[in-house]
Amino acid sequence: MFPVVVVHGGASMVPSERSDNFTLGVCSAARAGYAVLRGGGSSMDAVVEAVSQLENDPTFNAGCGSVLNIKGEVEMDAIVMDGKTLASGAVSAVRNIANPVQLAKLVMDKTSHTCLTAEGANRFARSMGVPEVPSESLITELTRMRWTKKREASAKPVESQLEKMGTVGAVAVDSEGNVACATSTGGMLNKMEGRVGDTPCIGSGGYADNQVGAVSTTGYGEAIMKVTLARLILFHMEQGQSVEAASDLGLAYMASRVDGLGGVVTVDRQGHWTARFSTPNMSWAAAQKDTLHYGLRPGDDLTQSID
Ligand code: GLY
Repeated sequence: MFPVVVVHGGASMVPSERSDNFTLGVCSAARAGYAVLRGGGSSMDAVVEAVSQLENDPTFNAGCGSVLNIKGEVEMDAIVMDGKTLASGAVSAVRNIANPVQLAKLVMDKTSHTCLTAEGANRFARSMGVPEVPSESLITELTRMRWTKKREASAKPVESQLEKMGTVGAVAVDSEGNVACATSTGGMLNKMEGRVGDTPCIGSGGYADNQVGAVSTTGYGEAIMKVTLARLILFHMEQGQSVEAASDLGLAYMASRVDGLGGVVTVDRQGHWTARFSTPNMSWAAAQKDTLHYGLRPGDDLTQSID
């Protein structure tokens, strides 16, 4: 079993002029997660490190760069899950936090709950000494422009899914065979205030179980929740399917049953991994055996060596 970390930067349609930013961002996050694993760190520390990097990168819809809700504000969701114990922590509709994934881990480590929401989550952050950041530091020129442009647009099923969504996430297996997942998002562009998506919901935004593997999802949250996509994929793996086949079965079911598009990164307990998506693009990168694999379009598998 070789330790591995796989990250995604959201299933969507990436304009060609921004594709390098997406690719560089996921490659750098996967390298950061892999450095943790190579140093003997846990899969949990690796996924939190990788996702924190993606939250700090304004390219992605999480942390800085999160899409804006109908009121032009940032509300974020995040989850972590530890496959050894099934411990999980999540936050939803949280504001003014640079790294919601780290706050989700604090919920797991420091409370007896699995999810804190909105002002309660912010109060918990304060009690843990997590600094609050100005709203403007999470908003970019692009997210403000997209909000202004789209706020009048009517909702159309499939096309509008692609324009509004994005999420970041990671899964990992460490040298002790423990799996973990982490997912973080600004949610859907123009969402209602207080809308909670799939990301902080166990089994939807992610799931990790040492007996099977781990999944982090991205895509249209309302559809992902209806089919509990992450747990559905692990169910298919429990039935003997490979990481690729199980991921494709889950995504195909979501498309046919509830018209939902999305993507996933998946690992099994042996360290087999995959990145699959039903959208035109999903930026992803995987680091294993000192090699970085990455891609953005269906069928991509580019490689670089890791020194
Ligand atoms: N998958 C992210 C969201 O819908 O909120």
